Amino acid sequence: MNILILGSGGREYSIGLAIYKENAHNLFFMPGNGATSELGENINIKDYNELAQWAKDNSVDLTIVGPEAPLVDGVVDIFKENDLTIFGPSAAAAQLEGSKVYMKNILKKYNIPTAAFIETTNEKEAHDFIDTMNLPIVVKADGLCAGKGVIIAQSKDEAKDAASDMLSGESFGDAGTSIVVEEFLDGYELSIFAICDGENYKVLPAAQDHKRIGDGDTGPNTGGMGAYAPTPLVNDEIYRKVEERVIKPTLEGMKQEGAPFEGVLFIGVMVVNGEPIILEYNVRFGDPECEILMPLLETPVSELFYKGATRQLDKLDIKIKKEFGVGVVIASENYPYSSSKPAEIIVDEIVDEELAANSHISYAGVASEDGKLMATGGRVLVCVGFGPSIKEARDRAYELCGQVHFAGKKCRSDIAYQALK
Ligand code: AMP
Ligand code: GLY
Repeated sequence: MNILILGSGGREYSIGLAIYKENAHNLFFMPGNGATSELGENINIKDYNELAQWAKDNSVDLTIVGPEAPLVDGVVDIFKENDLTIFGPSAAAAQLEGSKVYMKNILKKYNIPTAAFIETTNEKEAHDFIDTMNLPIVVKADGLCAGKGVIIAQSKDEAKDAASDMLSGESFGDAGTSIVVEEFLDGYELSIFAICDGENYKVLPAAQDHKRIGDGDTGPNTGGMGAYAPTPLVNDEIYRKVEERVIKPTLEGMKQEGAPFEGVLFIGVMVVNGEPIILEYNVRFGDPECEILMPLLETPVSELFYKGATRQLDKLDIKIKKEFGVGVVIASENYPYSSSKPAEIIVDEIVDEELAANSHISYAGVASEDGKLMATGGRVLVCVGFGPSIKEARDRAYELCGQVHFAGKKCRSDIAYQALK
């Protein structure tokens, strides 16, 4: 097949790498990064109508969308109007991530367990509700805020200030003029991914992300500094509850809403006293979760996404490798505060055969300049290790980290600690 992947991060690189290793397809990336050009061809057509025309002219058989913004903007609708096969939700279904108010109302309407909340555009209503709540209090801007729209307030005054700043448009512009105020859930967080075709679904092994910049989950939030899967923090009972109480009613509900869900349903779960409660939905893969899940699939990734895009998941028996994956993000010096000076990346030759066979790099914030690979983004690359235990996978990921060099490189040293303690 000719396969087009939209996006430029480690997530898109890892989808591309998995398909590249199938040795059967031509890959295109829009816009891709300085390393995806080694897997296929990077193209640069930003307008979705022009891109759809290009896809038709170049006989693209399947398009896979990585990030949420093009989904919320309706790229899937435009491609489908052009009779193209594309894996991802329509703009209407992408509202599950595009609007927290929409998402919370769907959860409520279809009785899916989530934190108690109100949604409002009114400052007084927000403040009155905050007065009735226990601490801490969670305040969320409705729209997409690049992961920054959630405030966990330790006092009522802090919660009220956050609500007022969002509602006035001061914090997040239009994305914050409608808000969700909700109770704080105390438990452990999981990322569960369901590949959906509107009707059927396949659940991938549960992963755990590490959102904070510092060891021991300290410091500011990032896009994610590392992940591992499958996590032993999930048992069959939790998977069963997530399928029965969350995935099935969501797919059924979205059909009733006239917006059947096709694509990756990313379920952000908080497990509280053994009960899975939904924090949020995203409508795409997590990054860096994708970087460890793609290589754990024995089923060809192209087949999984193609069947997902053509409502044939019921015909697929998904196979997962019986091993663990750990991914450690290497970020640039000033991440997540500010950008850093571009720096050349040198990767030592991996002489240890065990390591070479059980690890690889997924490239994210990189550019190719005069034959050199440069670190240009915040999250630069992910070192991924595999093994029969989380510890072995983790050790390999860190061994690989030691082979990567660029000025200012940094990473967390405790990825997967919750599974190993
Ligand atoms: P969200 O974008 O809704 O996933 O929120 C970002 C992060 O904030 C989540 O990954 C959680 O770590 C945290 N968070 C969000 N909502 C809650 C909540 N109700 N209770 C506790 N933590 C939360
Ligand atoms: N790793 C979390 C996310 O992609 O949102």
